[in-house]
Amino acid sequence: MDDFFTMRTVTWENDAVRMIDQTALPGRLTYVRYTRPEQVADAIRTMLVRGAPAIGVAAAMGIALSAVRSKERNFPAFIRELESSASMLRGTRPTAVNLFWGIDRVMARARSSGSVREAKEAVAAEVKAMEDEDVDANKRLGRVGSNLVHDGDTILTQCNAGALATVGYGTALGVVRAAVEQGKLVKVIVPETRPALQGARLSAFELSRDGIACTLISDTAVGHMMSLGRVDRVIVGADRITKDGYVFNKIGTYQEAVLAKRHGIPFHSAAPSSTFDLIRNHDQVVIEERGADEVVKIRGKRIAPKGVPVANPAFDMTPPELVTSIVTEKGLITEPFAKNIPLLIS
Ligand code: MRU
Repeated sequence: MDDFFTMRTVTWENDAVRMIDQTALPGRLTYVRYTRPEQVADAIRTMLVRGAPAIGVAAAMGIALSAVRSKERNFPAFIRELESSASMLRGTRPTAVNLFWGIDRVMARARSSGSVREAKEAVAAEVKAMEDEDVDANKRLGRVGSNLVHDGDTILTQCNAGALATVGYGTALGVVRAAVEQGKLVKVIVPETRPALQGARLSAFELSRDGIACTLISDTAVGHMMSLGRVDRVIVGADRITKDGYVFNKIGTYQEAVLAKRHGIPFHSAAPSSTFDLIRNHDQVVIEERGADEVVKIRGKRIAPKGVPVANPAFDMTPPELVTSIVTEKGLITEPFAKNIPLLIS
């Protein structure tokens, strides 16, 4: 049986994209196969595929689908066709910088090709390389982060920064996996992560399936668990880390960081280089606001009165003074983050 140490969430196979349908989890582990960029854009928008590294690679593959299926023979017209797919994919979700990184990388590869034929081969090879590099980066950052983890630790996470949020292995949960592979006994506390429940549906699923001890809590139990001394460290992922050292991650991360500071608990974010935004400062980032239905309903069942006003920010921003370190595949980044991020990430 496949496990999430080796399984791939998103993969390029025979000029098509194959991905796990995360909306069906934890009930059914099923795959979809897409051949058109519109299908990939829709999958990102509806969170059939989600998690910053996974959507970055999926979006790049969306453009590769456009390329390999194109009937265009004229190179400038072919690039215009790809640009139109790129613009559709860029409009799917605004916060995770990996999405834009993936699109820009594959577009640059297409533009630097000499002909349509060469570009088709080049983008297909590029997305396969991106797929492999993501797993490799996660394994490497896992090893870096595992040095922070002690035998017997209980780690609090948020959302799903696991194999399902990446091509494979995971970032925050990649650190957990690397520690487990080194023989350390670790436990993970998983907040359910309302409103989309990625903690309950996805993190609890992949950890249980891999036999890694985990305890599911409601989001509201985080402070209490810390106050009882039941959390040794916090490790979360990131959707974007800006050049001034702010960590954008799933809503609820900021309150974990504030509470961790209050209780003297180390707070780490684990992310590959593709999650860093070396151009923008924190006040230039758009935080995705999702529909009210996610809040007023739980799995389709209404739990709030009709017409109640709703705010549904999907991400929040943790300032650098609450962050102990950032784990990357290139090494560990500590403060001063604004100085050290550009030194390590380029
Ligand atoms: O809305 P989602 O499920 O795409 O949000 C995912 C997160 O916030 C993850 O923590 C983040 O992408 C890091 S994934 C390795």
